[in-house]
Amino acid sequence: MVASTGDGDMAEPLVASSLPLETRFPPFHLRQHGGFWFPETLLPGIVAVRTRFAPRPSDVFLASFPKSGTTWLKALAFATAHRADHPPHAPDHPLRHRNPHDCVEFLEVSYALDPTADAFAALPSPRVIATHLPYPLLPERFTAEGAGCKVVYVCRDPKDAFVSAWLFARKMAAAAAAGAANDDEPWPVPPKPFGMEEAFELFCDGQCPGGPQGPHVSSYWEASRRWPEKVLFLQYEEMLQDPVDNVRKLAEFMGCAFSMEEEAAGVARDVVDLCSIDALKNVEANKRGSRKYVKNEAFFRKGVAGDWSNHMTPAMAARLDGIVEDALQGSGFAFAAAESA
Ligand code: A3P
Repeated sequence: MVASTGDGDMAEPLVASSLPLETRFPPFHLRQHGGFWFPETLLPGIVAVRTRFAPRPSDVFLASFPKSGTTWLKALAFATAHRADHPPHAPDHPLRHRNPHDCVEFLEVSYALDPTADAFAALPSPRVIATHLPYPLLPERFTAEGAGCKVVYVCRDPKDAFVSAWLFARKMAAAAAAGAANDDEPWPVPPKPFGMEEAFELFCDGQCPGGPQGPHVSSYWEASRRWPEKVLFLQYEEMLQDPVDNVRKLAEFMGCAFSMEEEAAGVARDVVDLCSIDALKNVEANKRGSRKYVKNEAFFRKGVAGDWSNHMTPAMAARLDGIVEDALQGSGFAFAAAESA
């Protein structure tokens, strides 16, 4: 697989097969690019994003390390940005009929499906687009001074992100096994049991989709300190504690703050209720719908802080905390002290 970056700083074509390979984190083969691990199938999309994506000043990117609250942030940002056309209490609101990942698509996934097309060109402004790319791999035209585009990043305690990622990978591996049994399209990583210890070692080494987490988080944290008007840094645990306040913050940052009339009518609360995990779990499309690699219901598990303590030993927790702390050292950001559920 060869993909040309076309960038001044990365003028060499990217030859995926020459990049470091990791085959143990199911269901995708991972390749290391720019210091981070990605599903191999996404590499052409990651390259195409840098050369083909045409940003608009009103664009908002929702960025995250996988399993850090992306689905929730997509729902909240979509509902907030489009509340004039789709009031959150409306029975026909898109989020009552569609999965949040169908309302806000991933940039690199869309380009990976067709590197020559721009599925986002047809979207009306302001566009809300998601990505799992770390800040240094965002399109330069998007992050350039004066581009006007904004980024909202959500981070999550590494231990909960790990447990969520491990359980999600197991679900995908199970779907792979079912697909293999049905003689569907063969999966890159053959179905296999994916034990917690193996997953933990890989996650600690950063050999997981989007990994390593520490540098991913610090890249956005540092950007948010440097350009606070361009990059909003949110924490999943704080969103759980005070979702309404975080939605207000999100609306203000996206340039669509709630008016006094909206505040009086409780619109921010309506957005939060529409996007609560319980409400989304009950949407038919999320209960029964499916995507290529996983059922939609897999995106909505517990949705709490501290579930790691039901799966990890204190020693594992201390080790992972230490690794992420080391990666964040000097950035000025640290995760809050560990909580258990
Ligand atoms: P758990 O597996 O710990 O329950 P992502 O969306 O980045 O894939 O992250 C998935 C995590 O977000 C899962 O965590 C999932 O349950 C949780 N989640 C999904 N929707 C949510 C919502 N509306 N509110 C809070 N958490 C949510």
